[in-house]
Amino acid sequence: MKSINRKPNITVVGACNIDLVSYVPRLPAAGETLHGSRFHMGFGGKGANQAVMAAKLGAQVTMITKLGSDVFGENTLKNFESLGISTKHVHFTEQAFSGVAPIAVDSSGQNSIIIVTGANDLLTPEDVAAAQPEIAAADVLVCQLEIPIEPNLAALRLARAAGVTTIFNPAPAKPELPEEVYRLSSVFCPNETETQLLTGRAIRSLEDAESAARVLLSRGPDSVILTLGDRGSMVVTQDQARHIPAKAVKALDSTGAGDAYVGSLAYLLGLGLPLLDAAQRAGSIASLSVLKSGTQSSFPSREEVKDLLD
Ligand code: RIB
Repeated sequence: MKSINRKPNITVVGACNIDLVSYVPRLPAAGETLHGSRFHMGFGGKGANQAVMAAKLGAQVTMITKLGSDVFGENTLKNFESLGISTKHVHFTEQAFSGVAPIAVDSSGQNSIIIVTGANDLLTPEDVAAAQPEIAAADVLVCQLEIPIEPNLAALRLARAAGVTTIFNPAPAKPELPEEVYRLSSVFCPNETETQLLTGRAIRSLEDAESAARVLLSRGPDSVILTLGDRGSMVVTQDQARHIPAKAVKALDSTGAGDAYVGSLAYLLGLGLPLLDAAQRAGSIASLSVLKSGTQSSFPSREEVKDLLD
């Protein structure tokens, strides 16, 4: 088999956080103090995670983000540089601290996350406009909701005007989105919680997943991929609805699995793979990320997933 060697060009607009992860027997109740067994500090933030996943698979990635002028910001910049991610559009501000995310992970690998977005909130449409050449030259643009909606809209408009494929990951969950976001998305990619908030429908079964995905599709994206955790994903376009089951794995830490999925999907679509094929392979790559601790530190390397890239 011949492995895929072309480097897709991916631009990510989004947030960077430092993840402060505590491993606990169970998630604490309100007012409760619990003993944790382990602590891990690492690089996170949904945009950064997606950029790093795509870069680890072999993409040429440009990151558009804002960091605080502090030690977390400096280290995040160095992390991107060490992975070959272009930092030309990584901005710094004195007005806020870099984003942080205290996270608790229980013994079944499930998590609770608090985000203090800080400098991420100060990314502006003007910062994004300065990256117009990189957005227009991308194979795929990736956006999420951990930054304000205005820079996301600016990026999506520039991408679509240039005919660039766009992936919009509406995470973390918000109840409402401007209609334009749906219309500017080639792939709208929420998880179950985000879908429930956006559609008002609970996702209990695969039938629920398909019908909620159809509601989202009717708002204007070319396709919807609803990620379903250990149940896989539901891919819906005007022509078809397909459930892609997930591999059964024993999760150690599921933090960032959704980002591993989106980053892999961007890479695979950037290579020109058809949507269903890309979604299937992205699911397999993301399932490997739950086997290790941490967020970016759990993402598999290109070497580890070479069978999925052949
Ligand atoms: O999706 C996981 C990410 O959510 C973590 O890295 C954390 O920083 C929060 O953004």
